[in-house]
Amino acid sequence: MPITATTRVLGSSPAAAQLIEAVERRTGIRLASVETAPAEIELFVDPNSSAPEGYTLEIGDRAIAVGADEAGLFYGVQTLLQLLRQDDFGWGLLRADVADSPRFPRRGVMLDVARHFFGVDDVKKFIDSTSALKFNHLHLHLSDDQGWRVHIDSWPRLTELSASTSANGDPGGFYTKDDYRKIVDYAAARHMIVIPEIDLPGHTHAIGVAYPELVEAPVMNDNLIADSRRLGQPLPVAGEIYLGWGVGHSSVRIHEERTYDFVRDVVRELAEMTPGPYIHIGGDESLGTPQADFDLFAERATAIVVEAGKTPVAWHEMGSAADIAEGTVGQYWGMTTPEGTHAEEAAHFVERGGALIMSAANVTYLDMKYTEDFPLGLTWAAIIDVRSAYEWEPTTILDVPDTAILGVEAPLWSETTRTLDDVEQLVFPRAAAQAEVAWSPREAPERVWESFRVRLGSLAPLWKAEGVDFHPADEIPWSAR
Ligand code: ACM
Repeated sequence: MPITATTRVLGSSPAAAQLIEAVERRTGIRLASVETAPAEIELFVDPNSSAPEGYTLEIGDRAIAVGADEAGLFYGVQTLLQLLRQDDFGWGLLRADVADSPRFPRRGVMLDVARHFFGVDDVKKFIDSTSALKFNHLHLHLSDDQGWRVHIDSWPRLTELSASTSANGDPGGFYTKDDYRKIVDYAAARHMIVIPEIDLPGHTHAIGVAYPELVEAPVMNDNLIADSRRLGQPLPVAGEIYLGWGVGHSSVRIHEERTYDFVRDVVRELAEMTPGPYIHIGGDESLGTPQADFDLFAERATAIVVEAGKTPVAWHEMGSAADIAEGTVGQYWGMTTPEGTHAEEAAHFVERGGALIMSAANVTYLDMKYTEDFPLGLTWAAIIDVRSAYEWEPTTILDVPDTAILGVEAPLWSETTRTLDDVEQLVFPRAAAQAEVAWSPREAPERVWESFRVRLGSLAPLWKAEGVDFHPADEIPWSAR
């Protein structure tokens, strides 16, 4: 059907206004919003129409999108926007008859704002481009060895002293509480829940710059020393800002009560400004922390999150702790063929009544290079082309019931990304692969590489119009318009 300046949109949902704005950005055509029929495009919510977050979309001579809820209608609008095309006669919508709802309730992306800081406007743009792919969770990695990125009233030196730089000495920054709330609200308007992460007990060098009494002296390891030589980066020095990106050297003091005062205060303040149900407490790569200490910390820290009224989320290592808080959600970041104790650790979350998010590093990590010579990114987990990002199955990696898999999250670690354009080069198009793994039924006829690569290629004009700096991988037949 044609899209012209006389096309009318009927519907009072926020999705109607979002559609009108997006069509104008793409085509320059401002659709008219009307309050009564008739209209060429009709948008409404009907709880009986589909499963939660689902929608139906019919495009013939008219376009009608019906969401099961506001999120479903928003997703129907995103699909409609993917069907917008320009040809020699002008703009129009391709014909469609879609009934769609997600396979997994958890479809997440993570942005590491600690190794490099990204301000509110960058995060908003990241929310725009990922929510358009029907992602519904945004995990913000708010602290790491290199910096602390959110203001905490009860521990103000964190942002006074530990936020000024990023990896390699690049500029830093932090979110005020007002900034953080703006991000949460902006995400909510696009049906994304924000999951704040404070990484503990390791990845905590920056805490020690502000509050030395909370953190142990750095413990070197062979990889850290080798990385520092290879990259020409400094080794961590207690109390000084860390500009390298080697890992595993830091730990909070497990046997100091003040550490738990700190965790309790930070979790309380984060919980107060986070409407979503989760707080991520970290747990990865505490290589210098003795195992018994690590397990004790995992138990106490997850209990503190529960006391604050939230559900803890933790990287899978915390599954080593026998008494991790019941219901804690584990985030598996091992390989698609699990190594060492990773599978057991992940399974323990399920034994404790929790569930799992799958972030298998060798397929979902958005910071891995596409090809050996790609200028951005790292290679430690794998080199991940678009096809290998797409062709994996989240329920067959671990020996847990399918119902224990909440969904998929694709993390972007920011050691090598200094700007949002750098981030987008790594995230797009591979985030679209994870979006489909998380959304589409395993058995759907379209859930195959040959179908995906063609549909993915058709997103190029949309991404160009939205200013998304995607990597034009040569595996994909990109459309010109
Ligand atoms: C991680 O990649 N260290 C969770």
